[in-house]
Amino acid sequence: MEYCIEITKNGPPEVMEIMKTPIKSPAEGEVLIRHKAIGVNYIDVYYRNGVYPLANLPGKIGHEASGIVEVIGKGVKGFKEGDRVAYVSPSPGSYCTYRNIPAEILIKIPDQINFETAAAMLLKGMTVHYLFKRTSNLQKFHTILFHAAAGGTGLIAMQWAKLIGAKVIGTVSSEDKIKLAKKYGADDVINYARNDFVESCLNISSGKGVDVVFDSVGQKTFYESLRCLKKYGLMVAFGNASGKLPSFDLGLLNGNLFITRPTLWQYTSDEIELKTTAQELISLVLSKKIEIPVFQSYPLVEAVKVHALLEARKTIGATILKP
Ligand SMILES: NC(=O)c1ccc[n+]([C@@H]2O[C@H](COP(=O)([O-])OP(=O)(O)OC[C@H]3O[C@@H](n4cnc5c(N)ncnc54)[C@H](OP(=O)(O)O)[C@@H]3O)[C@@H](O)[C@H]2O)c1
Repeated sequence: MEYCIEITKNGPPEVMEIMKTPIKSPAEGEVLIRHKAIGVNYIDVYYRNGVYPLANLPGKIGHEASGIVEVIGKGVKGFKEGDRVAYVSPSPGSYCTYRNIPAEILIKIPDQINFETAAAMLLKGMTVHYLFKRTSNLQKFHTILFHAAAGGTGLIAMQWAKLIGAKVIGTVSSEDKIKLAKKYGADDVINYARNDFVESCLNISSGKGVDVVFDSVGQKTFYESLRCLKKYGLMVAFGNASGKLPSFDLGLLNGNLFITRPTLWQYTSDEIELKTTAQELISLVLSKKIEIPVFQSYPLVEAVKVHALLEARKTIGATILKP
């Protein structure tokens, strides 16, 4: 038998329930994985509360995990029983003990990377990879504003931006988070719960504004974020932790700004694209250039508590669930 978190309706964390189901054999092209750790991401909240619709209800939650290959499906090449693997999947359903996953999205994990790190790094790390290397082509002469700088994605972004050599201004909601974001590489950090971040950002950038804003907070910050951009600046709206973005007047781009609303799924939809991105990330983690900061680890059965903490902004860095 396997245990899996299911929801029968959208709503608060409590809609998540543990279900017991028989373990299914892998279909052709799939591999059965015994999960060792499950990555928690803010997107899990969107699918649970209905900001993003699940294809069906009852439905499942979670997009990434690491574990051990238990059974190889027909036609699968390149994997064997006992391999250490991780995956990030656009289809929700990783909050469980066992899962069948298409081999084409499986990533082998080197022995030096533990299961906890592996479960926490792919979705967030590959997001930072595409945001910096592909969406914005971030360079060392750029200055950026990155919201939620002490979150799971944020702390990876702080390190990566430093690696590139860009100047990074982060925003966070508490004094403790300011210290943390700076420790991981932010040059300046604004407490946007207390201060006007547009004014602070313009002060820090000597009135010029920034080249790129990475805004995953959404509704509450969107319009102000646009005001932080310099001429020809790029607004990367990649999340909606505070609520969905409103439709907006293109005139706000002032005739010179750029905007995009990217998703990881688009940037990893091709197997080569996915595996190349994952390997670049793994190399950076192995060479200790990027650390994956897992600050919260809870049993899978405590998923309700974990979602409540995430939504209350009480987590820092990455969070994992242990089956
Ligand atoms: N488009 C993509 O491809 C993609 C991929 C990965 C992640 N994302 C987005 O990136 C963001 C970060 O994801 P994550 O998993 O790393 O989460 P996270 O940053 O660890 O947690 C979300 C953070 O958002 C901030 N926040 C601001 N307003 C909030 C509100 N009203 N409610 C809750 N949190 C609020 C909080 O930080 P403060 O307390 O410091 O404000 C909170 O800690 C999410 O919006 C996610 O959807 C997008």
